[in-house]
Amino acid sequence: MQRWKGRDVISIRDFSKEDIEYVLNTAERLEKKLKERSSLEYAKGKILATLFFEPSTRTRLSFESAMHRLGGSVIGFVEASTSSVKKGESLRDTIKTVEQYSDVIVIRHPKEGAARLAAEVAEIPVINAGDGSNQHPTQTLLDLYTIKHEFGKIDGLKIALLGDLKYGRTVHSLSEALSQYDVELYLISPDLLRMPRHIVEELKEKGVKVYETSDLERVIGELDVLYVTRIQKERFPDEQEYLKVKGSYVIDLEILKKAKETLKIMHPLPRVDEIHPSVDPTKHAIYFRQVFSGIPVRMALLALTLGVIE
Ligand code: CP
Repeated sequence: MQRWKGRDVISIRDFSKEDIEYVLNTAERLEKKLKERSSLEYAKGKILATLFFEPSTRTRLSFESAMHRLGGSVIGFVEASTSSVKKGESLRDTIKTVEQYSDVIVIRHPKEGAARLAAEVAEIPVINAGDGSNQHPTQTLLDLYTIKHEFGKIDGLKIALLGDLKYGRTVHSLSEALSQYDVELYLISPDLLRMPRHIVEELKEKGVKVYETSDLERVIGELDVLYVTRIQKERFPDEQEYLKVKGSYVIDLEILKKAKETLKIMHPLPRVDEIHPSVDPTKHAIYFRQVFSGIPVRMALLALTLGVIE
């Protein structure tokens, strides 16, 4: 296992199974401590900088909340137009500046590879909060934490990723992480939005049983987890292409009649119309518990990379 203090969190590919389990176990420890006290002091005197070049509700606010729960403070910006990037400053100079003010950086950027570049420039740890269609490793860790919380395990489950598998960074990271476990993976999407071939090939090479289909109804009865994603309108180069796949899947009470009683539905959120609100009160819906998982998991990542917990 790699040393944690000072470590960057850029891609789930950089994490061994042992690393993943270490983060999940640390998050569980911190969640228990949070039940006893609403805030802790591990990060007292430390500063988190959140640099969001793309919109976010959950990732930014949960990182900020996590840092406050650890006793630390937060600075940052929520859109590039309020920073000196607007005046033409490079990402490199922005990072070299921000690291003078903080102890850890969380960055979301529309360009694939931007977080990796930031990590190469910065001396302090950098955490990727999503880079284009590429990776969203902290979302993946909270997804795994949620699955473990619900089922007590990840191995042995039949897990479907549904929706925009082409542009969705959450499903790219999650499928790669799941390849470290003994799961069966169902990749359900319109033809236009299939999982990139290199990821599917890699999953198969790692021995994951992968089934690709566009027909949710045919397989829903077999699933333990249905991970639904939004069609990522903002990533389509051509709006006409988006219109061809818009509304491809809507999870509603009707289709759930074909599901196992124990099926759990997840979604990284935000949703648009792919899960009908009538599903929210059912025992299948765990997407708001999933939102909560962001707190202990991001607390664990901050505390470990800052080196204030072991
Ligand atoms: N799941 C997620 O990344 O949500 P936000 O875009 O709101 O951060």
